[in-house]
Amino acid sequence: MPNHPFPDNPKEVWSAVDQYIQQTLIPSDSVLQAALDDSHAADLPAISVSATQGKLLQLLAQTQSARRILEIGALGGYSTIHLARALPTGGQVVTLELEPKHAKVAMANIARAGLSGAVSLRLGPALESLAQLRAEGVEPFDMVFLDADKPGYPHYLTAFLPLCRPGTLILADNVIRDGDVVDGESGDPNVQGVREFLRLLGSDPRISSTAVQTVGSKGYDGFSLSRVLNL
Ligand code: SAH
Ligand code: DHB
Ligand code: MG
Repeated sequence: MPNHPFPDNPKEVWSAVDQYIQQTLIPSDSVLQAALDDSHAADLPAISVSATQGKLLQLLAQTQSARRILEIGALGGYSTIHLARALPTGGQVVTLELEPKHAKVAMANIARAGLSGAVSLRLGPALESLAQLRAEGVEPFDMVFLDADKPGYPHYLTAFLPLCRPGTLILADNVIRDGDVVDGESGDPNVQGVREFLRLLGSDPRISSTAVQTVGSKGYDGFSLSRVLNL
């Protein structure tokens, strides 16, 4: 194992390497930094995706040629900006957010990024917004990023699958939870929520899935990735 400066503290190593990746591969970006700064100033929780994860979302959306993206859980719009930047002209991110205060910060951050025309934020409980979208018969989404309350994940999956098409890419954040995801006896409703979500993914023959464990500035967690095969 090569020498590195923090041999005894894995979390420091993960953060240092995350920073190194960011500095080496990702141009610094004042609009994204301002979105984080203003989220912090407004006392929003510091739970946005990291810069390296946000860039992953953007690259995946581009790889998917996504024109319509559904995000569940906007917070201050940090991940939303990454996703919206991947859109072709005329594309749209529909992002769902429960908290008016979060939505207000998100809208300001999205406006500063010059992306107001590419993002439509729906305020309210995501299950209600998803029912609305179904009732409106909107065009199917090419990509879904699920990042709201974890106990809701199984319900959101059921509610947004009708808004997908064969080939839709589904990503869900925070499904590893420091490894606690393997504890079937866990009393943590977040763990039980992601476990039921992953169980539904794995038992649905219409969906092809995996999950990737991640370490970095946000600690030890991971994403699930799924492709809708047919509906
Ligand atoms: N995707 C964001 C972080 C989202 S944090 C980013 O990476 O930048 C989770 C968000 O989900 C919070 O803003 C929270 O208010 C929102 N949320 C929680 N429960 C919700 C619900 N029932 N409907 C919609 N949004 C919800
Ligand atoms: C929490 C939520 C998230 O979406 C995340 O990425 C990290 C933490 C939380 O609710 O604590
Ligand atoms: Mg998250």
